[in-house]
Amino acid sequence: MAKRPRIETAVFPVAGRGTRFFPATKASPKEMLPIVDKPLIQYAVEEAVAAGVRRLVFITGASKRAIEDHFDSDPEIASALKSKGRSGSAEQFSRILPSNVSCIYIRQPAALGLGHAVLCARPAVGNEPFFVHLADDLISAQKPCLAQMADVYAAKSASVIGCITVPRKDVDKYGIVAVEASGHTARIRLIVEKPKLRAAPSNLAVVGRYLLSPAIFNHLARIGAGADGEIQLTDGIASLLKEEEIYAYKFEGTRYDCGSKLGYLKATVAYALSHPVLGKDFRTYLRKVVKSSPPLREGR
Ligand code: G1P
Repeated sequence: MAKRPRIETAVFPVAGRGTRFFPATKASPKEMLPIVDKPLIQYAVEEAVAAGVRRLVFITGASKRAIEDHFDSDPEIASALKSKGRSGSAEQFSRILPSNVSCIYIRQPAALGLGHAVLCARPAVGNEPFFVHLADDLISAQKPCLAQMADVYAAKSASVIGCITVPRKDVDKYGIVAVEASGHTARIRLIVEKPKLRAAPSNLAVVGRYLLSPAIFNHLARIGAGADGEIQLTDGIASLLKEEEIYAYKFEGTRYDCGSKLGYLKATVAYALSHPVLGKDFRTYLRKVVKSSPPLREGR
């Protein structure tokens, strides 16, 4: 395989208000919702750092200060834990990020859409390929999804979009792509944001993992508002497709839609079951609960 160029930057659009989780997310970011003992945004950042990223660009909005606090080192926690004799934990919790990783926070001035959020990252990204990661889409994988995508980039020297097949009834919840061939990696022919079932070109859906050429910025700056009156990343990608190859990549791993309550609960159960400390006891507990709970009845 070709030597993998390092993708230095990952962009995390975190400005959305997370209204589906209200009131839980009224005053705190949805990206801080924990899956067992880590917030969603930390899983996101760890995935990017594992793929070699050194610059984290967060596109933030109202009520998102907790994200900045989370990634700051916290000497007070460190000394409190040390004084309790927990020096190991002190290092682990006071500094979440490796010291060679830096954070940049850019405020999205208004909720103008995902494409607009990505465009806000332009000054921090510069003229290099970069990742976009949506923390709502939690992906559990042996090899982190972004690292898999960097391998595809090394082979194709083109933008790569993480995709899964979804039930046809759900196509209107996603960006949907049509590709030229079968297989895990295939060139995209067209992409459309949240099509109606009858207009959907396939059921291959975009999830929140993108490795994009910097040319996307010119396209995002040019396109107007699309679906829901917002500047859509999907429309920017459709425009980029007219001048560059872009690949859909069906990654290895399981994706949890943590933007929905059911997906969030599924992720919580899956991560709790495989937790190194809690997993065994949680499995025993869950078995007991499932056995003893009465069967579901209609209208309950
Ligand atoms: C966004 C994108 C959509 C993509 C989805 C993946 O939609 O616009 O193309 O399929 O993320 O989660 P959202 O879920 O923010 O409405």
